[in-house]
Amino acid sequence: MTARESWGSRLGFIFAAAGSAIGLANIWRFPFLVGAHGGSAFICIYLLCLFLIGFPVFISEIIIGRAGRSSPADSFERLGNSSWWRKAGMLTIITGFIVSAFYSAVAGWILGYLVEAIRGHLVAFNSAEQAASHYEGLIHHPYWALIYHALFLAASLFVLYFGVRGGIERGNKILMPLLFIVLTILAVQGLRMDGGWKGLHFITSPDWSQLTPMAFLIAMGQAFFTLSVGQGTLVTYGSYIKERENLIQSSWPVIAMDTLASLLSAIIVFSIVFSAGITLQSGPGLIFHTLPIAFGQISGGYLISVLFFLAVVLAALTSEISALEPSVAYLVDSRGWSRHHAVMAVGLGAFLLGVPCALSTSALREVTIQGHSILDLMSMLASSILIPFGALFAVVLVGWRWGIQRGMAQLEQGAEELFEKHPLLLWYFKTCIRYVAPLLILVVFVGTLMAVI
Ligand code: PHE
Repeated sequence: MTARESWGSRLGFIFAAAGSAIGLANIWRFPFLVGAHGGSAFICIYLLCLFLIGFPVFISEIIIGRAGRSSPADSFERLGNSSWWRKAGMLTIITGFIVSAFYSAVAGWILGYLVEAIRGHLVAFNSAEQAASHYEGLIHHPYWALIYHALFLAASLFVLYFGVRGGIERGNKILMPLLFIVLTILAVQGLRMDGGWKGLHFITSPDWSQLTPMAFLIAMGQAFFTLSVGQGTLVTYGSYIKERENLIQSSWPVIAMDTLASLLSAIIVFSIVFSAGITLQSGPGLIFHTLPIAFGQISGGYLISVLFFLAVVLAALTSEISALEPSVAYLVDSRGWSRHHAVMAVGLGAFLLGVPCALSTSALREVTIQGHSILDLMSMLASSILIPFGALFAVVLVGWRWGIQRGMAQLEQGAEELFEKHPLLLWYFKTCIRYVAPLLILVVFVGTLMAVI
């Protein structure tokens, strides 16, 4: 048997994990949430959520991965020492797989819009109605959604096919810097536009009255989804980290880059929207109606529209790769498949499961449960139920089942000096992993269920 792969360098892991973290949630969802929940007031509670639960869960999953050195199913079983924990690990792999299916369907639309942008179709709208009807025309077309879903998935599989170091690491090392270059160009360009600064001013002014308990739940959900926790991804990526690597120094840059990407995206979206003098919408409306109207009204709109959709496609691609990898690792590590066969099988499965999502705005539009489309239902199942459970399993496994002492010993491995210099760090991780994160996850879980029902 060939040796298990590992990252070539610390930077390799950082770029790969940042590639996973930075995705549609940063560029598409975060700006809207900031707009809807009180500007920088929302940013403050979001940062608090990252600190209290996001980072501790992230670290717990990396600890499980590096200690288990296998797929999430094996790693959970090894640390939890029972078949029940294996099932918990399996559940996280399935969650990643479900995410990969609907994520690819949605990212397919974005890829389709990149092509629309290149063809110059996104600078030609004079009214919101025109932008909306263009969007409806596309998404009501079953083949349009299916073809782009397939193309997007094929691009992700292409990278995965070449393995951890030759595919994921190399791909992210190219795509991540490219993404940050594009985001920076767009943010600078946005701020240089007439009225662009008003966008920045809006984001930085807090409106504390918008901080409802619901906003708090949303901030925590956002922190989970954006960090890619709860779905086997970080356990798998963590399992490719070398024995003597410093886990803290591998992890904090990922959280920092993820946060930077969210903030840059908010600057981009609000500067464009304010300089065009239009109001912000949520969900698909933001990216498919509001921004295209703005692109038509600002100078350099064509180039900006192409760069913007290119950025979103790149971000989504590196996330999709990371959602598929736990299933690939499962087939390779736990079932002895060759990597190439595993990539093909997982790709085919994700394509098929993504088909009903891709068709949920056309051929399967009528199929709804309580008004929710198949796509909505799958994304709600993953983000409101499966991901919080996956995150809870990770902190309970490290904090209680395997034991916090062993967990901290794993964390200290390769980071001895850092912990000697900053003993408070150990206290922070212990307290958050054992008490704060599990409690808050339960609060979010119950709160979100109550809000949905
Ligand atoms: N973190 C990604 C985002 O912000 C979502 C994601 C999580 C995708 C995990 C894949 C795996 O969009």
